[in-house]
Amino acid sequence: MARLEVLRPITDADVPQVLRFNAEHVELLSHLDEDRLRLLLTWTSRADVIICDGADAGFVLVFEPGTAYDSANYRWFSARFGTEFAYLDRIVVDEAFRRRGLASAVYDVVEAAAVDRGRLVLEVNVDPPNLPSLAFHEHRGYREVGRLGGPGHQVSLMAKDL
Ligand SMILES: CC(C)(COP(=O)(O)OP(=O)(O)OC[C@H]1O[C@@H](n2cnc3c(N)ncnc32)[C@H](O)[C@@H]1OP(=O)(O)O)[C@@H](O)C(=O)NCCC(=O)NCCS
Repeated sequence: MARLEVLRPITDADVPQVLRFNAEHVELLSHLDEDRLRLLLTWTSRADVIICDGADAGFVLVFEPGTAYDSANYRWFSARFGTEFAYLDRIVVDEAFRRRGLASAVYDVVEAAAVDRGRLVLEVNVDPPNLPSLAFHEHRGYREVGRLGGPGHQVSLMAKDL
């Protein structure tokens, strides 16, 4: 098993690496440039680099309800759940660190922090399907509560009661 050493808040020095991680998987996430990332960082409740074996192994962004985040998915969850959710906007585990339990360890931390909100929510691409992420989230107990988008770009909106 990979050992999650620490979730460390993203600093200015991490911005280029976070943008690289995002760019490597942009078809599974959404576009991020430096200005957009810095704007998101003003709204996130958690914006961490994932550290494993002394290396940067990925990153994770989480939002609480009530921010000005203009994501359609986040707004859908706000309309559906009010203030009773925390929103995991995106996670990347670098390919070199996959299938070693690292995302599971990150979710342990993020879900524990979201218990008071009642649920953790997120979206996963279903058209085209993000099969690793669908497998991960189904394994983790996330269930579809809605869909957004249409042919060529559709997401499954998923929630896990905590
Ligand atoms: C999805 C992602 C975060 C999973 O990270 P990870 O650290 O590899 O996940 P874990 O090792 O904790 O996986 C836990 C379990 O999830 C399931 N799982 C994870 N990846 C899987 C895959 N590629 N295929 C099938 N099942 C998978 C398995 O049940 C796995 O347990 P096992 O390895 O003992 O069989 C990672 O693949 C990733 O960063 N992908 C690119 C970005 C992305 O899609 N982010 C999510 C957007 S919604």
